[in-house]
Amino acid sequence: MGKLQDKVAFITGGASGIGAASARLFAKEGAKIVIADLDDEKGQAVVDELKTNGTEAAFHQVNTTKEDQVVAAFDDVAKAFGQIDIVFNNAGIGSQGPTHELEYDDWRKTVNVDLDGVFLVAREGIRKMRESGGGTIVNTASMYGHVGAAQTAAYNAAKGGVVNLTRSLGVEYAEENIRVNALCPGFIETPILPPESREALAEATPVKRLGQPEEIAKSVLFLASDDSSFMTGASLIVDGGVTAQ
Ligand SMILES: NC(=O)c1ccc[n+]([C@@H]2O[C@H](COP(=O)([O-])OP(=O)(O)OC[C@H]3O[C@@H](n4cnc5c(N)ncnc54)[C@H](O)[C@@H]3O)[C@@H](O)[C@H]2O)c1
Repeated sequence: MGKLQDKVAFITGGASGIGAASARLFAKEGAKIVIADLDDEKGQAVVDELKTNGTEAAFHQVNTTKEDQVVAAFDDVAKAFGQIDIVFNNAGIGSQGPTHELEYDDWRKTVNVDLDGVFLVAREGIRKMRESGGGTIVNTASMYGHVGAAQTAAYNAAKGGVVNLTRSLGVEYAEENIRVNALCPGFIETPILPPESREALAEATPVKRLGQPEEIAKSVLFLASDDSSFMTGASLIVDGGVTAQ
């Protein structure tokens, strides 16, 4: 029996990086996987790979900032799979540059994906979980939900919002058997990290390397499974020591 045997997991941003690594690990632990992502080519490729390995899996092309698309995807999945037990609310984008040069439109785009989209996905997950009797939600925030950093103000503000949204949802739905926690990664080697900055980011990390998406996936599994049964509203920092400095 896997840790997620026969659970249905809805994973946003599952086409790449941390989301794809988590989809693979969840599948190994017995879950049925739904990948919801903008990127249909990469998302479908992950689903095909999971199916080849015997996992029940589906892809939905979803922009997490579009309310109608998020609502439709949750409705479709609930109909097709019966219920949704786990939401890994993980789709996100980066943004970088001096704040005094940040255009309002760019601010809004970042906050729209990294905070508004997280709200929409969490809300739909909660609606379905209230109908089925409970579940777990893992929101991907960032270590930058806890500390500040130069030149990533919009991202950091959104991730700080995700951390406190997580606390609030954890409190609000605790008595309905819905646990909500946040995962706060440090610098992880995925396409979101600009290649030219990777060496410096590894150097800035006390363990002197970037994290791998598979290392984050193990923490996501912990938060999504009964192993974290007494945790809700919490955020788990997995950053190779960056924020401990
Ligand atoms: N890699 C890091 O260093 C790092 C650190 C802290 C937090 N994070 C967070 O981890 C999460 C996953 O990022 P990753 O590192 O795996 O990057 P990634 O770029 O590999 O994956 C992000 C995925 O999200 C999808 N996506 C983006 N906007 C979307 C939207 N509006 N609707 C649906 N899908 C959308 C992309 O298509 C992509 O597949 C993000 O929330 C990111 O902010 C990453």
